[in-house]
Amino acid sequence: MTRFGYFDDDAREYVITRPDTPLPWINYLGSEDFFGIISNTAGGYAFYRDARLRRLTRYRYNNTPVDVGGRYLYVRDRETGEFWSPSWQPTRDDLGDYRCRHGLGYTIIGSTRAGMRVDTLYFVPLGQTLELWRTRITNQRDSSVGLSVFSAVEFCLWDALDDATNFQRNYSTGEVEVDASVVFHKTEYRERRNHFAYFACSERLVGFDTQRDAFLGPYRGWDRPVAVECGESANSIAHGWAPCGSHHVALTLAPGETREIRFILGYWENAIEAKFDPPGSQTIDKRSVHEVIARHLDPSSVDAALTALADHWSERLGTIQVSTPDEHTNRTVNIWNAYQCMVTFNLSRSASLFESGIGRGMGFRDSNQDLLGFVHMIPARARDRLLDLAATQLPSGGAFHQYQPLTKRGNDAVGSGFNDDPLWLILAVAAYVKETGDAGILDAAVPYENRPGSEAPVFEHLQRALQYTLERLGPHGLPRIGRADWNDCLNLNCFSETPGESFQTTENRQGGVAESVFIAGLFVLAAEELATIAERQGLGGVAAEYRSARSAMATAVRDHGWDGSWFRRAYDHAGNTVGSATNDEGRIYVEPQGMCVMAGIGLDDGRAVAALGSVSEHLATPHGIVLQQPAYTRYRVELGEISSYPPGYKENGGVFCHTNPWIVIAETLVGNGDRAFDYFLRINPSAREAISDLHRCEPYVYAQMIAGKDAVVPGEAKNSWLTGTAAWSLVAITQWILGLRPDHDGLRVDPCLPAAWNGFTARRTFRGARYHITVRKPAGVAGRVSHLVVDGHRIDGHLVPLAPEGADVTVEAFIGPDVYSIPHSRR
Ligand code: BGC
Ligand code: NOJ
Repeated sequence: MTRFGYFDDDAREYVITRPDTPLPWINYLGSEDFFGIISNTAGGYAFYRDARLRRLTRYRYNNTPVDVGGRYLYVRDRETGEFWSPSWQPTRDDLGDYRCRHGLGYTIIGSTRAGMRVDTLYFVPLGQTLELWRTRITNQRDSSVGLSVFSAVEFCLWDALDDATNFQRNYSTGEVEVDASVVFHKTEYRERRNHFAYFACSERLVGFDTQRDAFLGPYRGWDRPVAVECGESANSIAHGWAPCGSHHVALTLAPGETREIRFILGYWENAIEAKFDPPGSQTIDKRSVHEVIARHLDPSSVDAALTALADHWSERLGTIQVSTPDEHTNRTVNIWNAYQCMVTFNLSRSASLFESGIGRGMGFRDSNQDLLGFVHMIPARARDRLLDLAATQLPSGGAFHQYQPLTKRGNDAVGSGFNDDPLWLILAVAAYVKETGDAGILDAAVPYENRPGSEAPVFEHLQRALQYTLERLGPHGLPRIGRADWNDCLNLNCFSETPGESFQTTENRQGGVAESVFIAGLFVLAAEELATIAERQGLGGVAAEYRSARSAMATAVRDHGWDGSWFRRAYDHAGNTVGSATNDEGRIYVEPQGMCVMAGIGLDDGRAVAALGSVSEHLATPHGIVLQQPAYTRYRVELGEISSYPPGYKENGGVFCHTNPWIVIAETLVGNGDRAFDYFLRINPSAREAISDLHRCEPYVYAQMIAGKDAVVPGEAKNSWLTGTAAWSLVAITQWILGLRPDHDGLRVDPCLPAAWNGFTARRTFRGARYHITVRKPAGVAGRVSHLVVDGHRIDGHLVPLAPEGADVTVEAFIGPDVYSIPHSRR
């Protein structure tokens, strides 16, 4: 229990115990087509599929007070006139027993005030395009009470960017209908839209409002709506301006009585030829939506939908469940990290409190890496995602840097030329094939650049990805970086002097010979994966070719990428080193240390150990491993955006968390379980819960960045939820520290644990079989698995062979001195 809350692991919830968290702590509702962001004080918004183009409700980012716009309720005592919001916002009155329970796909917010206990559950039922709110009000007084309950949402006029900017039009387009207890928001339905939003209530209304400013009153905010203050709705019908939805329900509760009100905020599409009823009118045809509303307002359907949702998450998360001596590991692996990976699967980098929902599409490299964290939970959807990604690849083997989720087309404005991009596809496909055994994906015909007629097998896409690097080598035989590699802010070929210009896409200098040691490492890793795949396809010659390209690249890294004590980062446009002891700033970068060691470079000659020693010496801080040191203290036109950030933030020496699990993995490769685990915990949200005042972001999900040691407030996190940190952290802990690693021919059980541990147990579903794993290790020693006992049979090494689908397999793995085979009495 901290000042702000605690983990309720049995319920799979984080419980927030005071509303004024350092930042809004959010959760996500929905995992298919309908989504919502919800904060611990009921702030946030809803959208259908695309956070920019189909935004249902309005949210004002960067507002004061923070986090205004949400799913609001007001409770008013009709006798005294006192009113408050049971979720604290927007009225912000003192509340008793405030609790926000963020769970898997739902949130419950409740409190007590003036003898009224009010709890509201919010969630999106599976398969539906709506969110349900269930409010329960209990009169804890010993006398009966007359209450008014007002709801309030503010509608967004669909395109969130246009909605926030195009007032000359938008103040005149808003339209609604009110039918019994349902408010319909139908702006632009009269013309080209065949969809509308609705806000329904289970109770008979004594009033309503749909014109925001009638509800609020002139010069008022959501904290003191005039309708609530006076206890009377205006029954306003919005024409233009700002449509809202507010129901007014009157209740009388006897002492001890509990009443329930249900609300639905939903999205509906009618067939284009059946928009109006009667045809020719301008009235929404509500026949099909009425049935959906009635069904979901039924109290029993709420419970059934909630149970279905819980089952859904149990199944998703059930693929890997572990029990280790460390509670942070347990809750991270079993609940929150896996959940965060599913959220990044759904939303990529589109909608959080740091991504406004109007910006980026799906990143090519981001999506491929995200997949590493969810492929075991949703293999079929992972497959679809891979095919979408491959279809945005260019015939050159390169890739559009981003694509639009609705059209699945590459984004022309950003284009391609981020030279690391295509290689990530190889890692993602390899992970998918190892997880599922579905080598058939390699034969799937996928076009280039989405052009019909250009279809080629996925395997060929991967070959071109590798070739793309080989065709773009620089003067040292290292891959040319292009616009940027993984580090979007290392822009070595763009010399931007113009404010506001893109650091990534501006091309103002010929040549572009800057080289990346990071891409070299990534190539070595990817070439090995593809060689293995080729071999298994019976293409021994191709495999040999890739292995020789791989070793040539590793040689180039050793000859030109090694700085003496660590791997260099790059060579700039002029051929100068980046990330070398000869530089005055930016002498050592984390990315090539992680990537080169993961690729196996330096494992046999001491360089890996030396590089990781340098990381520990120069980059590791109590709050995680910073991206580079020393941070750049001034803008360097030859390096680009990295030097645009003040020291200690983002790529300029922040703890850019995505890179930390790479070092964790690298440490396991050199057998240093203690250091791997230590690094794992430094950025782990649960392990940082105790310092929430400093960390500020949610203690249940990873943040993209924690301010580095050069920052004004080291340790302060930003950009929680949508980050590649989620996938890589889950990979690092489950596959490398705990060592449960899918491979082509079976499941590896190859942990590298902290010495103090005495083992752990795990359940892993893999290719349809359930593995019940016990890892036994004497506490106090470090060591690797010597042998396994699988269903009673001893196997040397750590590969558990494939079991038939549906099988239950018992696996014991023995680490260190083989004491366990000695009878207990003789130990
Ligand atoms: C950020 C990067 C991000 C990039 C996306 C930059 O401003 O620092 O982390 O990848 O924007 O374009
Ligand atoms: C965030 C971007 O989404 C990702 O693609 C990039 O690798 C990192 N920032 C580092 O720049």
